[in-house]
Amino acid sequence: MAFNSFRDFVERLAAAGELERISKPVATELEITELADRQMKSAGGGKALLIEKPTVNGQVSPFPLAINTMGSAKRMAMSLGADSIESVAAELGSLLKARPPTGMREALKLLGTALELRHARPRVVKTGPCKEVIHNFEAPVTGTQAWAAAPSTETATGMANPATLLNLPIQKCWPMDGGRFLTLPCVVTKDPDTGERNIGMYRMQVYDERTTGMHWQLQKVGARHGRRYYETGKRMPVAVFLGGDPAFTFCATAPLPDGLDEFLLAGYLRKASVELVKCETNELEVPANADFVIEGYVDPKEPLRDEGPFGDHTGYYTLPEPYPVFHITALTHRREAIYPATIVGAPPMEDFYIGSASVKLFLPIFKMNFPELVDLALPAEGVFHNLVFASIKKSYPMQAFKIMHGLWGMGQMMFTKYIVVVDEDVDVHNTREVLFRLCANTDPQRDSIFTKGPADVLDHATSEIGMGTKLGIDATRKLPGEGFKRRWPPLIKMDAAVKEKIEQILQAK
Ligand SMILES: Cc1cc2nc3c(=O)[nH]c(=O)nc-3n(C[C@H](O)[C@H](O)[C@H](O)COP(=O)(O)O)c2cc1C
Repeated sequence: MAFNSFRDFVERLAAAGELERISKPVATELEITELADRQMKSAGGGKALLIEKPTVNGQVSPFPLAINTMGSAKRMAMSLGADSIESVAAELGSLLKARPPTGMREALKLLGTALELRHARPRVVKTGPCKEVIHNFEAPVTGTQAWAAAPSTETATGMANPATLLNLPIQKCWPMDGGRFLTLPCVVTKDPDTGERNIGMYRMQVYDERTTGMHWQLQKVGARHGRRYYETGKRMPVAVFLGGDPAFTFCATAPLPDGLDEFLLAGYLRKASVELVKCETNELEVPANADFVIEGYVDPKEPLRDEGPFGDHTGYYTLPEPYPVFHITALTHRREAIYPATIVGAPPMEDFYIGSASVKLFLPIFKMNFPELVDLALPAEGVFHNLVFASIKKSYPMQAFKIMHGLWGMGQMMFTKYIVVVDEDVDVHNTREVLFRLCANTDPQRDSIFTKGPADVLDHATSEIGMGTKLGIDATRKLPGEGFKRRWPPLIKMDAAVKEKIEQILQAK
């Protein structure tokens, strides 16, 4: 089911008892973090918060802020208009079973074809609510289109303070942060060679009213598009949107293969094609029902600028590193926009639920590649991808190692530092169960492998940025061909009949 706006979703959360309204003024500097962190650390992810009067430097912002809106299994499913992520994954799985693809890319291509049949491709419309207020800062980026440098229409809204990066409720999340950061921006770029679109979530540090950082990390698609512009020296158009249907926000975080349009996945998930509008000052398109759109460009001729420090999803501050500067040419928004936000930091945080949804959704596709794969879990303590538990139906020696190498070779799984493989009867979502098997079933040297590969650039523990070592541990039952010469003992389990009888006795009490 599609949401018409972020507000629509926030109201749905309120109706479901999933939202707490905070009517007292709360500072965007640190205070919102403290409020939200308490929710995110409470059982099951706590509640979403609507901060009705966020303050910026002591002044109430013209816009409310909503946070932790996807920070529980229930709210994550609600954001995709579903009862559970498992049901969405099952639907996706059955779609792919019709003609099993051989890989992730082919699987999503197949998905694209299915979507086309459903008429769920994005389509461009003339205008939309994201343009209710248009603030055009300057003349167009490209000379080919005759975009008029329209005067600001802010006064038409009757707003005392026109929306700018300085009065939007943009948080300074943690005490040592280098400034304010947009934490849920969906960044739209295009491959200059193929025209293929990408939407990625890359945080943005506000430098001033007209410039921000653009934190697309080395291995991300936005960064790859950027490198092509740096090679040609041409200005790179970039559009950022916030809000609208929460499915867009989720899709921006989803690790889709390079070249696959996130709006296609969004159209599939929300069961309605995404309506797009052209930006005012460049040729990119953004969802018509977004809450805020920030248009601009990255200039390859300009030196990179330090971004950070930022209290990151690793639970540590990421120290300043050079990133491109994003120049803003226009800011458009809904009149009644709600500013979407999150925080990252020591786990568990909202991003655990967002990441888990991606894993569940793409599990059917992983299974196409690895038929022995039963389940995958990325525990919150591994902050997204540091730690992966995989269960497999093992039928030949060294199969656990095959899975490890396969996973390290799949998209953003390359960032995984530790992979633990267990047998099919282990619930990988129960860390206690996995640790039990890990300790019980391994001879450390025989059952582990160290290898090398790319690392998350945010990982402060690697000796070099962006590269590191990986450890895989085979915690499955050993087969004769695996150098194990003794008898494998049976696992202790109670008889089913005894369990049933005791159950009856307890219930009769
Ligand atoms: C809340 C949140 C913040 C994120 N911030 C960043 C970021 O600043 N830079 C980055 O490269 N990835 C960030 N990510 C991860 C990317 O959004 C994710 O890897 C995504 O798949 C990238 O899209 P791409 O493959 O199209 O580049 C963030 C994810 C979440 C959930």
